[in-house]
Amino acid sequence: MFNTIIGKDISAAKKFLEGGEAVGIPTETVYGLAANALNEDAVLKIFSVKNRPHFDPLIVHTHSKDEIKKYVEEIPETAEKLINAFMPGPVTVLLKKKNNIPDLVTSGLDNVAIRIPNHALTLELLRQLSFPLAAPSANPFGYISPTTSYHVFDQLQGRIPYILDGGSTEVGVESTIVGFEDGEAFVYRLGGLAIEDIEKVIGKVKINLNESSNPKSPGMLKSHYAPKKSLKIVDFENSRMEIQSEKIGVIAFNKYVEGIDEKNQILLSPLGNLNEAAKNLFTAMRKLDASDVHEILAVKFPDEGLGRAINDRLKRASS
Ligand code: TXA
Ligand code: MG
Repeated sequence: MFNTIIGKDISAAKKFLEGGEAVGIPTETVYGLAANALNEDAVLKIFSVKNRPHFDPLIVHTHSKDEIKKYVEEIPETAEKLINAFMPGPVTVLLKKKNNIPDLVTSGLDNVAIRIPNHALTLELLRQLSFPLAAPSANPFGYISPTTSYHVFDQLQGRIPYILDGGSTEVGVESTIVGFEDGEAFVYRLGGLAIEDIEKVIGKVKINLNESSNPKSPGMLKSHYAPKKSLKIVDFENSRMEIQSEKIGVIAFNKYVEGIDEKNQILLSPLGNLNEAAKNLFTAMRKLDASDVHEILAVKFPDEGLGRAINDRLKRASS
């Protein structure tokens, strides 16, 4: 058991990480649960703190393109374009790993998932460390990802020594995961970097989101990112539905659902901005999960920009 501290002290976080502990860190997407990616004992702590199965590999975080080169065999041209255009940023690339990355980090896969998070505190921390950080989202396996240091504290207090506090995360949903095969790019997880932006740089990409188990991205389980209460997605564009219970909570884009108490409804972006909606999604899910509503209705978002990542998370939360 630890007496978990929340603070903004990079040197404290550094000290714990150098000592082989797991520490909460902010990124622009969601908070991570980080440990020395090159130290198997430290990485094992991540799995045990999160209750995460070992078949679900971890993303490696570093601070520069030169650092990425230390851990991967090669960077295909398409990957290089993405790295140059969007890193640091909310995107992760799958590249053939070098032997210095332990198999535990990649769950035995040949590729390592690697990214440069766009958060000033964490970038500075990474520059000061002599090793990269393996970090999944800092939530118990299967639950909603944390977007503030308090979310991390709520769920992991006592299990880790330190949470580096970098405020609320800017993007709010996890990074977009992209892999490469024979010059083609495949998106394995929709996330904080919109497909439209990726396609401006590398042309059409294939989207390969496996619903149940995905050998390319084993963590993309059908049920994930889930609140404890039942969550249903409704599409008011295509159907009108009768709403029965008084104890229904709603997550919607910019318009309240008629017939449901507005105090139980959360609009993710009253002005209709999908980036703002993504930023607010997980906090809204947590709020309704902790409130006295019995179930949660989520109104389907427009399938464009970050709306696609939002719909993906809602779908997994509803499974
Ligand atoms: O935004 C993010 O990506 C956050 C922040 C903390 O960086 N991290 C995150 O990690 O969402 P996690 O572990 O919750 O999700 C990582 C996903 C999992 O679905 C995992 O299966 C997949 O990435 N993944 C990791 N390594 C992989 C690999 N070598 N090959 C394929 N998929 C991989
Ligand atoms: Mg996660």
